[in-house]
Amino acid sequence: AVVLAACGDDEATTSGESNGDDVQEMTIKFSHVVAENTPKHQGALAMKEYIEKESDGAIEVEIYPNSSLFGDQDEYQNLVSNNVQFIAPDLSKFVGNNPQFNVPSLPFMFDNDEEAIKFWDGEKGQEILGSLEGDGVVGLSMWPNGGKHVTNNERPIDSPDDFEGLKFRTQGGQVLEAIYAALGAGSESIPFGELYTALDQGVVEGQENTFSNIESKKFDEVQKYMTVMNHTRVDYAIFTNTKFWESMNDATKEIVEAGIDEGTEVAREEAKSLNEKALELIRERGQVEIIELTPEQIEEFRTTLEPIYDEFEDEIGADVYEAAREAAK
Ligand code: LMR
Repeated sequence: AVVLAACGDDEATTSGESNGDDVQEMTIKFSHVVAENTPKHQGALAMKEYIEKESDGAIEVEIYPNSSLFGDQDEYQNLVSNNVQFIAPDLSKFVGNNPQFNVPSLPFMFDNDEEAIKFWDGEKGQEILGSLEGDGVVGLSMWPNGGKHVTNNERPIDSPDDFEGLKFRTQGGQVLEAIYAALGAGSESIPFGELYTALDQGVVEGQENTFSNIESKKFDEVQKYMTVMNHTRVDYAIFTNTKFWESMNDATKEIVEAGIDEGTEVAREEAKSLNEKALELIRERGQVEIIELTPEQIEEFRTTLEPIYDEFEDEIGADVYEAAREAAK
């Protein structure tokens, strides 16, 4: 049976009979930049399976991983043009549209997925996800990946001073830039699909990412050291095109929405264990020296990065800080 859509406004919608409407035949494209063995892809797969099954094959969902359809540079524009119906970018890639998308980059704000989920599911988080409306884009639910850790090729990093003079690739955004500047390092935003080569060729000495992204893209092959930091996060949300979203009849939308809920559940369930497994694999491969910080060393980073909060309070908003701190309690 079809699960009732969370925001369906028609109470009478049940399996296959909503207002006499048939489920619309269509092909939906879902494009993303990461590998298949990741929380994002597993969520997308669960969404695909649910939608195809519940629509009896009327709706086909094509997933394009590994930037194989669109990459960081062009996936948003293609969503706006409805060339792709779903994307799930790292939220920090939207900081050009709204600086409040810097929340995952606020240093040491969230300790774990639960806290981040609580923020994005809350009122402020939902407001931020809805802020791309003017572009004809609807923000749906948040999917976590996890905390980010720093890899580099120059030296084992265990204190802020160790960053001096190095250049790091970031996902982009004012806050990440300020973090590296505060650490005496440089930074550059490079598309995810070009990162392995950039590390290999020494365009940058390092980068920050989740264990899952580091392992599945084999960044450890081209890096020597990895410091377990958990100072910032990769979190996603599912975004769709408003015109596409509104073009669905009730019966169709109900299935698609329930499919997204299914994907959300899987992505949220899998994120932690996939990252833990990825860390184990990185350990087993033995390509990077892994540096685990003591609580005192983490405190030193915390103190060094604390001024970032004042620097961005006006731009991001005291209300957003407050909501994030509340979720992080
Ligand atoms: C990155 O660019 O490093 C990540 O945001 C990629 C992703 O989607 O997880």
